[in-house]
Amino acid sequence: MTASAQKGMQLPRDAFHRHPHSPQQIVFALPRPPQGFTATFASFWEGHPEFQLKRGNARDPDVLRFNHQRHFAPDIPPVNGQKLDCNDCHQPQSDGRLYQRINFANNCQTCHSLQFDSRNPELRIPHGNVDLVRTFLRSLPAQYADYARLKRGIAEREVSAFVAQQVKQLRDQFHSGDELERAVFFTKDPYKPQQTMGAAARGSFTGCAFCHEVKAVANGAPTITKPILIDRWMPQANFNHTKHQIDPATQKPLDCAVCHAAAQSRETSDVLIPAKANCTSCHSPQGKIAAECTTCHGYHAPIAAQTLNVQR
Ligand code: HEC
Ligand code: HEC
Ligand code: HEC
Ligand code: HEC
Ligand code: HEC
Ligand code: HEC
Repeated sequence: MTASAQKGMQLPRDAFHRHPHSPQQIVFALPRPPQGFTATFASFWEGHPEFQLKRGNARDPDVLRFNHQRHFAPDIPPVNGQKLDCNDCHQPQSDGRLYQRINFANNCQTCHSLQFDSRNPELRIPHGNVDLVRTFLRSLPAQYADYARLKRGIAEREVSAFVAQQVKQLRDQFHSGDELERAVFFTKDPYKPQQTMGAAARGSFTGCAFCHEVKAVANGAPTITKPILIDRWMPQANFNHTKHQIDPATQKPLDCAVCHAAAQSRETSDVLIPAKANCTSCHSPQGKIAAECTTCHGYHAPIAAQTLNVQR
């Protein structure tokens, strides 16, 4: 094993990373540990190394702001009459093994609806494209006119007066179109008077910088740092959520908190992935659940060796 470990260190890292995944999947990749992957140990529950992302105290590189703990506070509005739950945002993929990627429209927009005018709550800034947002803000009179006709059912002859009135009210607050645009892109709370509202209403009146890192560009539209939402954290093991829904000891549903300390996390940079101790409670002789290497790892010979086998 020592000789193998030494040989392994001469081989390129990718020789050890043959865990196929689709090109769309974003996988959390850590560098090869300094001493390589080869170690000598006899069982999962004793000598198996702590998972690399725990051992190295890995951080989530994403810059999208998200605070799990804040979203379980009492002032967060209920969704469909229920307190916000993990599954409101985390939906399993069709095979149930892993979870789908977070999506603004499905998981955030009900509460963070990008309103900007409390008198016209159904008028909202479009999400997800900086140029579209700019075009929208630069055509506000036309947007108000459409809104008046389609949503408010205002008679055609009164539309222009309505538009003039709304634009004037916005102007009292922002003075110019440029100022409004800057506030929307670069401030977390562009609409200061809204601070007197409750948390639920405030959450609907936010700027892009509430969630994003926004960078100014000379003479151009600002850029939003693209969120990196990781799909796979532990590519070297075959974890499967469908096998972890029921606690085998009690036959009761297994709480997400057994493995994910999400309710205590305030920073996106926290990696909410379990450590080995979260597994050995079951996967060990005491826990009475299988803990063979092959329970969690698949054997993967190099492609060349596999073909060789077939030819022989
Ligand atoms: C309002 C939506 C929302 C709710 C509710 C929510 N999450 Fe998340 N979760 C996110 C977002 C956004 C991310 C990605 C950003 C981040 O890492 O914080 C994420 C990431 C994660 C990750 C991936 C690992 C990581 O560190 O990024 C895990 C695991 C997770 N959440 C577990 C939970 C659990 C367990 C609950 C329930 C206690 C929960 N979440 C509730 C939005 C939510
Ligand atoms: C027995 C431990 C365990 C339990 C219970 C558990 N998870 Fe996980 N979860 C994991 C592990 C391990 C990973 C990393 C999987 C990987 O990347 O291969 C993970 C990954 C995730 C991720 C990141 C995206 C992904 O699919 O890889 C989310 C989101 C998540 N879990 C949500 C939940 C929610 C919601 C619950 C409760 C309904 C839950 N988990 C229950 C162990 C668990
Ligand atoms: C059920 C409603 C609800 C959902 C869904 C929701 N939020 Fe929130 N969020 C709130 C409220 C309410 C606040 C507090 C607003 C305030 O105090 O101004 C908040 C606060 C925040 C904050 C500021 C946190 C802090 O530390 O102060 C961020 C960032 C945020 N949400 C991002 C998101 C993202 C990203 C999503 C989707 C993945 C999301 N929220 C989904 C209701 C929600
Ligand atoms: C409440 C939090 C929140 C606010 C406020 C917010 N976003 Fe986002 N945004 C997200 C989340 C979550 C994602 C990643 C998921 C997705 O793409 O749906 C995202 C993704 C994006 C992306 C990347 C889309 C892609 O295709 O990769 C852009 C660009 C973007 N937002 C622009 C904006 C702009 C411009 C604003 C202001 C008008 C804004 N966002 C306000 C949460 C937010
Ligand atoms: C509450 C008990 C419990 C905990 C905690 C637990 N597991 Fe499991 N695990 C099970 C049970 C039960 C099975 C199903 C065993 C079977 O089918 O024989 C299982 C099966 C598995 C499998 C096989 C999946 C498949 O496709 O057959 C893997 C991989 C796995 N667990 C990994 C983990 C990891 C990694 C952790 C820690 C993050 C963990 N488990 C924590 C109870 C648990
Ligand atoms: C209950 C599930 C489970 C069992 C059983 C298990 N492992 Fe692991 N192992 C994991 C997980 C999860 C990781 C982390 C994977 C990742 O980071 O991609 C891991 C990582 C590893 C690594 C990488 C070590 C490093 O330096 O990061 C090696 C090598 C390994 N396992 C070998 C084994 C061997 C040999 C056995 C049998 C004696 C075994 N495992 C049994 C879940 C398991």
